[in-house]
Amino acid sequence: MNRLHHWLCRSAAWRETVRERVPWVLSGADLGPNVLELGPGPGLTTDLLRPIVPCLTAIEVDHGLAESLGSRLRGSNVAVITGDATAMPLSDARFSGVVSFTMLHVPSPELQDQLLREVWRVLKPAGVFVGSDSLQSWFMRLIHIGDTLVPINPDTVGLRLEAAGFEVLEVEKNSHAFRFQARKPSARL
Ligand SMILES: C[S@@+](CC[C@H](N)C(=O)[O-])C[C@H]1O[C@@H](n2cnc3c(N)ncnc32)[C@H](O)[C@@H]1O
Repeated sequence: MNRLHHWLCRSAAWRETVRERVPWVLSGADLGPNVLELGPGPGLTTDLLRPIVPCLTAIEVDHGLAESLGSRLRGSNVAVITGDATAMPLSDARFSGVVSFTMLHVPSPELQDQLLREVWRVLKPAGVFVGSDSLQSWFMRLIHIGDTLVPINPDTVGLRLEAAGFEVLEVEKNSHAFRFQARKPSARL
């Protein structure tokens, strides 16, 4: 992330945005007792999740951000690990729910699809995956100067979730962002 992006992710303006976005994304979803958050950054989204989730693990690729969030939340119901959501050091079928806020746009379509498959792998059967990402805009391009920006197209994200093995429950967009809710099918008897 460039400096502007780093600053934005811990700003009061972003806190207001996620205060609206997180309930929009979670609405009606039952994440269960053991939840994984992908890419928490400085943790504004984590702060909204931790009062409503019994046990939360957050995986963050930026070691500095992971360290500082981990020390801020030490002794709480949140464990923070440094790791890449496209190749997670986590066992299969471990979580009842996975959430991702504004982090699915990893640097290539192949890595994005790999990330979806990784989420499917770490979810229990019938586990829920919900998330959101920002729509393409000049502001998104500005805060990704120096980074590769490969935005997610909300019109195809449902098909991509299905290709990774999910049952898609909902995809919805507003003027700034889209959200989705999906489920890993229950194991066949
Ligand atoms: C735009 S920030 C969003 C932070 C937070 N989710 C929020 O909405 O406030 C994206 C975060 O995802 C992290 N990230 C990007 N690629 C990742 C990956 N492959 N695995 C884990 N975290 C990743 C970035 O380091 C950054 O902290």
